[in-house]
Amino acid sequence: MTFVLTFILFRSYVLGHLLTAFELYEEKRVRFQTQTLLQVARRLLGKIGDLGQLLRGVMAEARELAKAERCSLFLLDKDTGELVSKVFDGNAVTQRKSSREIRISGHQGIAGHVAQTGKLLNIHNAYQHPLFYKGIDEQTGFKTRNILCFPICDEERVIGVAQLCNKIDGFHFDKCDEETATAFSVYCGISIMHSMVHKRVQKAEARYKLSQELLLFHMKVPDIDVRNCLNSTYLHSAEEKFPTFDTFEFCPRDVDEHSSIYLCIKMFKDLDFIALFKIPEEKLARFLLLVQKGYRNTPYHNWFHAFSVAHFSYVCMKNLRLMERGIITKLQGLSFLISCLCHDLDHRGFNNSYMTQSGSQLARLYSSEGSINERHHLSQAICILNDPGSKILDSLSTEQFMESIDYLRELILATDLANHFRIFKQLKTLNPENIVDNQRMLLSLLMTCCDLNDQIKMWTTVHSVAELVYTEFFAQGDLERQMGLNPNLMMDRKKACIPALQIEFLDTVVTPTFEIFVQIFPEKSDFLQTISINREHWVEVKEKETTKNGSSC
Ligand SMILES: *[C@@H]1O[C@H](CO)[C@@H](O)[C@H](O)[C@H]1NC(C)=O
Ligand SMILES: *[C@@H]1O[C@H](CO)[C@@H](O)[C@H](O)[C@H]1NC(C)=O
Ligand SMILES: *[C@@H]1O[C@H](CO)[C@@H](O)[C@H](O)[C@H]1NC(C)=O
Repeated sequence: MTFVLTFILFRSYVLGHLLTAFELYEEKRVRFQTQTLLQVARRLLGKIGDLGQLLRGVMAEARELAKAERCSLFLLDKDTGELVSKVFDGNAVTQRKSSREIRISGHQGIAGHVAQTGKLLNIHNAYQHPLFYKGIDEQTGFKTRNILCFPICDEERVIGVAQLCNKIDGFHFDKCDEETATAFSVYCGISIMHSMVHKRVQKAEARYKLSQELLLFHMKVPDIDVRNCLNSTYLHSAEEKFPTFDTFEFCPRDVDEHSSIYLCIKMFKDLDFIALFKIPEEKLARFLLLVQKGYRNTPYHNWFHAFSVAHFSYVCMKNLRLMERGIITKLQGLSFLISCLCHDLDHRGFNNSYMTQSGSQLARLYSSEGSINERHHLSQAICILNDPGSKILDSLSTEQFMESIDYLRELILATDLANHFRIFKQLKTLNPENIVDNQRMLLSLLMTCCDLNDQIKMWTTVHSVAELVYTEFFAQGDLERQMGLNPNLMMDRKKACIPALQIEFLDTVVTPTFEIFVQIFPEKSDFLQTISINREHWVEVKEKETTKNGSSC
């Protein structure tokens, strides 16, 4: 009786306490392990740039955690199926200078077995294990007692094997070490994969930079061209040839290629950017000539488009006195003009969805971020701005420079109409009272207006520009048809009714955009009249087209 009672008491009391103590111990251990692993992960992430260093770090951490004498790490060579030592017998610091990598069969021994099965092996007595190979011990004089060998995997497969030898102050590796190893192998796998991806990205970046360098090298502008740009005789004659250059009515598309460079210099001068930002004229000339060369000979998205867009930004800044009235800063003004000049650099005459569909290199580079073309134009612009011969922003302070590049990015990306529509609701809230607080939005709107500036010119311009646009669109449509795709209506030369498409374009894009412009600058309400006059013209053209034989209207 007494015995039984004692026993019951013992069970419920002593054992209860023992269990609680054990649970507490277990909980503490798990918490410690988790924290340690997190710290390890953090340390590993810092080393991601250098795979060798990362792997040595990885194994040093593993050895530390499991209290092992030695550690090795093998990565699986996909081509040969061999395991290649990346860290061997690593006391982490031991980087045997003369060491060649050791290759072992991916099918033999303990490591091979783990690589094949993807399962951890905890071997208490190495010499008694059938898979253990004594040869290495005999060569090195090291006596292996026990081994904890575990796979390192990425999302799908084993990419390597890690091996810890000889538990310090213990008989062998225990369950707890196995748990640590399992968790560890996950971190390890992720870090290694990241490191490899990182390396590939770095290589791709290097290749990209190299090709940019090559490009700029071949785009070199002859010194004589630069000198001619700086010859004031030519500048004056260009100015005399186009006396109404600084008005909204001026049609920049009437300017020839040669004069356009002088008139660009004039814009920088007139807006006081050359003096204000200490732009060396030679660099400016070289910059402009490089930008001009950077455009391709596409029907529409060519240098003349860039020049006309820049011209519109110039007449806006000049006639609406945007900087004098404090609506935008001088630095914003400078960035605005540069953005306009550069906003379609190296345009290939295809729109963003074509770039994606045709699997172009550019789409591969930028598709995850959207605005494929615009990102490319921006990158070309930055490339030219970084070239020592055309670094027109060189005299800016670091902060000013960063700010300017920031605007450049924003403004060039703003020329993606998709972006314009995304922020259209916000743009509609702009008015003369709030623009100073919304400079970036205003600039984004102005950028779109500049891009659409052909539409507020005389009918003859509007009409001839439409022809250029559709020449380019139809060329894309033809290629799409060749690819077995059905081109969009406006890209399809067999189906497109140009006047109808233009009327739709005016109604859905141009008019709403310039309505906001006029809401902010009521003095330019004549733009809306011009648009509506041009619309009438399109209606007339459409009526005439409809009566024609075989017309798509
Ligand atoms: C500028 O061009 C004119 C006309 O070709 C030429 O006569 C003059 O020498 C040039 N001036 C300079 C400084 O090169
Ligand atoms: C770009 O081209 C594609 C293919 O023809 C067309 O479906 C799409 O509407 C075009 N996008 C724009 C914004 O013009
Ligand atoms: C014009 O249309 C008429 C009637 O549809 C057709 O008979 C004629 O062959 C067409 N002419 C041309 C030149 O396509």
